[in-house]
Amino acid sequence: MRDVATDFERAFGAAPEGTWSAPGRVNLVGEHTDYNGGASLPIAIDRRTAVAAALRDDDVVRVGTAFADGIVEMRIADLADAAGWSAYPLGVLWALLDAETAADRVRGLDLWIDSDVPVGVGVSSSAALEAAVCVAAAELWGLPTTREAMVAICQRAENVVAGAPTGTLDQSAALLSHADAALLLDFGADTVETVPLGLDAAGLAVLVIDSTVRHDHTSGGYGVRRRECEEAAALLGVALLADVPAAGLEDALAPLPEALARRARHVVTDTLRCREAAAAVRDGRPRDLGPILTAAHASMRDDFEASVPAVDAAADAAVAAGALGARITGGGFGGACIALVDVDRADEIAAAVTARVTGAGHPTPTTFTVRASAGAGRADR
Ligand code: GLA
Repeated sequence: MRDVATDFERAFGAAPEGTWSAPGRVNLVGEHTDYNGGASLPIAIDRRTAVAAALRDDDVVRVGTAFADGIVEMRIADLADAAGWSAYPLGVLWALLDAETAADRVRGLDLWIDSDVPVGVGVSSSAALEAAVCVAAAELWGLPTTREAMVAICQRAENVVAGAPTGTLDQSAALLSHADAALLLDFGADTVETVPLGLDAAGLAVLVIDSTVRHDHTSGGYGVRRRECEEAAALLGVALLADVPAAGLEDALAPLPEALARRARHVVTDTLRCREAAAAVRDGRPRDLGPILTAAHASMRDDFEASVPAVDAAADAAVAAGALGARITGGGFGGACIALVDVDRADEIAAAVTARVTGAGHPTPTTFTVRASAGAGRADR
């Protein structure tokens, strides 16, 4: 990634007041559970979005980035009308000012954004962008916004301004994570627990295999699955699908049409797998994550039907090549698979997966390992 302070100065003709950054995330387990009141176990990754920013003397916000041409300029009063890529950063500013009812007291901003979080892979480039802008603006504007409030603000920007009906998994990971730890997010109880991972100490690594099949959660399967979950919950008479108890699950799901029963089974069993995974890590058994990941992949593929053949092929190939377990990560309908691997075998497994996946006629995947990293914060201090 280029130096955002230098690029800011080139774009706006003066140095920024500071730089901030926020990470992408990999979800270890617990998919499509956030908006269903279940649980997830994400890590923030060592791929980040950086923002250089400075206050202006008027009520104008200007935002530029290395990944799109031109500078978008808008008055603070019009931020809710932002569209295209700038809906993410400008939508966050709108939601932040709305939450703090501060719109009439703050000055404009200049923002320059760059990122090495890959887009469309399922590692939450959008939440990284939202979180980086949110921490930058809250500090420059002197707002008292807590990290927990920022999670809801970034989600609101994504839902309302960018138009993607997503939950709070990604924003929680980007804003609340700590290095070498996962977050156990319980969306029903509204609790967050930091679970030290110890992957480095155990000689393990998380390998990301990007299928290069792209998804877009503002359209397509994500919204369809979300509506199916709401329909299943309504038919079962529960507020949220994760309220269905795991004990006696099959009997409880019997009244549902077959496809909706499978959606519900995924939500309930993935929430259970999350708790098992967190317990394994807490007990110092990180290798036991492997079979949990593989079972979670089968659930996303068969019950939630949110995987695609190229990602299925990558997950199968990773396990065949010696990964402890592998699964699709993120919202699905494309994107990436993660594999838990012995660190000294990561390259060999990545090469074997690439050979097998391309041999089966799928696009050549991109592979990289990630480390569990810290959440959003000031980057120049
Ligand atoms: C996307 C959404 C999240 C979550 C996941 C699936 O990443 O942004 O809110 O629903 O999909 O677990």
